[in-house]
Amino acid sequence: MADKKKFYLSSITERLRQLQAETGLSDAALAALSGEQGLTPDQADHMIENVVGTFALPLGIARNFVVNGRAVPVPMAVEEPSVVAAASYMAKLANAGGGFRASTTEAEMIGQLQILDLDDIEQAADALETARADLLAEAAQVDPVLTKLGGGPRDIEVRRISDSPIGPFLVMHLIMDVRDAMGANAINTALERLTPSVERLTGGRALLRILSNLANKRLAKASCRIPVDALTFDEFSGEDVRDRVIEAWAFAAADPYRAATHNKGIMNGIDAVVLATGNDWRAVEAGAHAYAARSGKYTSLSTWSKGDDGALVGELEMPMAVGVVGGATRVHPSASAAIELMGVKSGRELAEVIVSVGLAQNLGALRALATEGIQRGHMALHARQVAVAAGVPEKWIEVVVGQMVKENHIHVERAKEIIRNLKAEGK
Ligand code: MEV
Repeated sequence: MADKKKFYLSSITERLRQLQAETGLSDAALAALSGEQGLTPDQADHMIENVVGTFALPLGIARNFVVNGRAVPVPMAVEEPSVVAAASYMAKLANAGGGFRASTTEAEMIGQLQILDLDDIEQAADALETARADLLAEAAQVDPVLTKLGGGPRDIEVRRISDSPIGPFLVMHLIMDVRDAMGANAINTALERLTPSVERLTGGRALLRILSNLANKRLAKASCRIPVDALTFDEFSGEDVRDRVIEAWAFAAADPYRAATHNKGIMNGIDAVVLATGNDWRAVEAGAHAYAARSGKYTSLSTWSKGDDGALVGELEMPMAVGVVGGATRVHPSASAAIELMGVKSGRELAEVIVSVGLAQNLGALRALATEGIQRGHMALHARQVAVAAGVPEKWIEVVVGQMVKENHIHVERAKEIIRNLKAEGK
């Protein structure tokens, strides 16, 4: 049997067909992914205000991802070149060590209720703590369906804010398991429902009632273990690559200036999947950076170290408030198709894939930066796209790419010229 054409060298139609053959994706979902039947202006008009149209981004599929033993095609909506290729390649390296292991905590979101004008903060705090069970029961009435699904209010926490510009005040946290939704609506509605009771119990005035994006009770964690042999390339030994990646990570661990860029590289992967699945990427961004600063000093979200067996071991843990129901996840046809393509059945499963992509993306950046530099890979990818656009046959792609990169002359006309020369030489 002839070898299957490489995914990245296939046409868009061939890629779509291959995806369908691999996953059994419906025709409708395929059409939605292709953009042919994506979000219509009419649908968009029901989502936000003053709609004049829709805005498209490239949607690529990261390959090779195996998360908790399951192969999963990863849809990524992103405008930046190299992101999808790097994620795919790093996922392949991770497969040498069994792929990604990922886990999540329960999907517990935090809602905040700010209480002002208190005569006695301690007395008010006591009153809320004493009424904890009643408050939880009242919050549970807001969304009986959520409770039926096993979610609902879990806890009440009372926090004293002492060093604010307006003097001390109280904050009540409502912790709620939102199951497979992002959860903003459920939590904000519950907070508003509790307001009269909270004001009566404390004698204070409730001001803000809104969820916190520092979703540190809704964490996702991924790890991978890459045998050094799999890291070897060009003149770099696997040990050398491993040590350089760890040194590069140490820079981000110690320095906020570097950590911001390091974490941006992680978010290249995270945001692309969050966006493709119709989730709120600003919420995930806000949670990520607040979590990165949780010790009081902004630092790397990931860690890289040397395992007992000499392997390169990576870990990423961060808040991940994403869902597979509600919001745009079902309304946006391409988002709904993206979720179908991934075969994820719950918000937690989606979060586990997303955090694995973040870890892969981080490794892609660190490996390139700490060895050949970031530009060479970019150039090679660009040259490949140009070669494909010039109609270079698959067997000559690498030769043409190599030549154009060496000459630093990457152009469709040059690719065609190289092919003509190769043919003239009888190759
Ligand atoms: C570019 O979009 C992302 C990187 O800057 C990430 C990093 O520096 O780790 C390459």
